[in-house]
Amino acid sequence: MYVLYTILASLGFFFVLKWMKKRKYCTDLKRLDGKTVLITGGNSGVGKDTAVSMAMRGARVIIACRDLDKAEKAVREIKFKSHSLNVFHMELDLANLRSVREFCKNFVQKEKRLDILINNAAMPGVLDCTDDNFSMCFGVNHLGHFLLTNLLLPQLKECAPSRVVTLTCSSYKYQKLDFQDLNYNLLPFFTYCRSKLANIYFSQELARITQGKGVTSYAVHPGFVQSGWTCHYSVLFRMLMQVIMWMFFVSSEIGAQTVIYCAVSDEAAKHSGGYFVDCRPATLRPFARDAGVAKKLWEASERLVKLV
Ligand SMILES: NC(=O)c1ccc[n+]([C@@H]2O[C@H](COP(=O)([O-])OP(=O)(O)OC[C@H]3O[C@@H](n4cnc5c(N)ncnc54)[C@H](OP(=O)(O)O)[C@@H]3O)[C@@H](O)[C@H]2O)c1
Repeated sequence: MYVLYTILASLGFFFVLKWMKKRKYCTDLKRLDGKTVLITGGNSGVGKDTAVSMAMRGARVIIACRDLDKAEKAVREIKFKSHSLNVFHMELDLANLRSVREFCKNFVQKEKRLDILINNAAMPGVLDCTDDNFSMCFGVNHLGHFLLTNLLLPQLKECAPSRVVTLTCSSYKYQKLDFQDLNYNLLPFFTYCRSKLANIYFSQELARITQGKGVTSYAVHPGFVQSGWTCHYSVLFRMLMQVIMWMFFVSSEIGAQTVIYCAVSDEAAKHSGGYFVDCRPATLRPFARDAGVAKKLWEASERLVKLV
């Protein structure tokens, strides 16, 4: 009897886990032949799986990475999985605004097109600073991508209709932005939440200023994903997270589905400025839909990265 109860409880637990991990797949099979897709941090996790899908659809794929060894290895893997040779890497360190400017200069010189920009790279909550003395999360996750997108915007407009997909996280809801202290660097998890909230405001304001210019913008929460982000923490935390991730988090292939959906689907294109979860538009908390805050953050970011 005891054995039977154990088997039933294990089966129940297994099915609950499977149900929790159930996610929608992007079913849009649109081809991207002749299009160029740029993915920041495409050497691991969600970015790498997104790159595989983009390459399979015929796009020219460029992953922008800070570590060239990891990037080369990822390019080989993406080529192998997608059966495409049209995959390349370029050097980009989002923690250094000079590197972002250098990258954009090279990109515009080398590449004729940019049809889809995927702002995927991110640092999890760590108390560190970028080379320009911004908190790591705010600097990499928001400011680096802010400058990158702005410098590549002329090329995106030339290739219209084009798209910008920015990865955020549902944990945006645990914090608000403090304009007196945008560079907040106190509690690691909260620095991450604020940077992901900034990603949402950025995506909305980008949609507003590019309205009618053929560029659309989407913010995506990929779900909780088994990926490489734990490498920034201690061995003990990593071991604990491996167990939790195995039980409750989805694979990075599944995590990539909503990103792919926003990059290709005609349905998504109707919701520029929207927030997407599980391959459909989702509702944000009211404070995260404040157009005034989004505009204020845009203007503050322009000053911080010295665009104005
Ligand atoms: N995993 C989740 O549960 C989860 C949940 C919600 C949202 N997200 C979001 O999904 C996106 C993808 O995350 P992931 O889970 O796939 O994480 P990941 O495997 O850790 O990938 C992050 C990528 O960002 C790159 N990166 C970090 N700092 C960089 C810098 N300064 N310059 C250039 N690239 C840099 C990393 O490069 P290195 O390999 O060189 O470090 C890596 O390729 C992120 O925006 C994340 O916030 C993830």
